[in-house]
Amino acid sequence: MKIGIIGAGNVGTGLAKHLVAAGHQIMLSYSRDAAKLEAVAKNFGAQHGTVAEAVAFGDAVALATPYTANEDALKQAGSPAEKKVLWDCTNPLKPDFSGLLIGTTTSAGEQTAALAPWAKVVKAIPPFAEVLHSDSMEIGGKKAGVFVCGDDKEARELVAGLVRDLGAEPVIAGGLVLSRYVEPANMLLVALAYGNGFGPRIGLTLRRG
Ligand SMILES: NC(=O)c1ccc[n+]([C@@H]2O[C@H](COP(=O)([O-])OP(=O)(O)OC[C@H]3O[C@@H](n4cnc5c(N)ncnc54)[C@H](OP(=O)(O)O)[C@@H]3O)[C@@H](O)[C@H]2O)c1
Repeated sequence: MKIGIIGAGNVGTGLAKHLVAAGHQIMLSYSRDAAKLEAVAKNFGAQHGTVAEAVAFGDAVALATPYTANEDALKQAGSPAEKKVLWDCTNPLKPDFSGLLIGTTTSAGEQTAALAPWAKVVKAIPPFAEVLHSDSMEIGGKKAGVFVCGDDKEARELVAGLVRDLGAEPVIAGGLVLSRYVEPANMLLVALAYGNGFGPRIGLTLRRG
């Protein structure tokens, strides 16, 4: 599959690493430094382009930008005529990671949907970048769970497949509105990893009886 990625930082390149290995074609986009973007893309076996080019390229598109840059990034996407699956990896973290800028009555996922009317938005926050870029995707001998929320069933399934390609375990949670709770759950992981000294090799899983 062709996948455009908006954001070529820790997560964007982590997605590229696994998705290229799984046989997908990747175009990375969105950097304040064009030379850096080109070098990073080459390093991960991806193409590079503008945000609009990455969106046009992708059968699906991933959004891997800091929440505070989401609006700017999505403005650069243009207005694709065809509805595209948009995999929203973003969490509305404060820039110092001390908490969330919004939550529980709305979500970054729902805001992304409002900013990208051309998209079928699916929220699925990947494992920590340190895990994506490490030698193993397993945490404590198990795959990390990734909650997948979106209003379009086929789009959810498509993103769940890409989450599997990362080496993580998708949990189809339900509609996009559930991003309101998934984002704070991932904020808890950030607090445990970086505030409580657990380190980034932690993840969420769902146990069912
Ligand atoms: N890091 C994690 O472990 C992790 C895990 C799950 C989800 N997330 C979420 O994934 C998203 C991306 O995180 P990340 O760690 O990949 O971020 P990051 O490393 O800071 O990458 C951000 C990307 O956006 C680009 N960018 C372009 N214009 C920007 C601007 N005005 N301000 C900031 N960045 C700009 C950066 O390019 P240049 O710097 O080259 O300009 C870079 O390619 C966030 O919403 C985060 O909450 C992160």
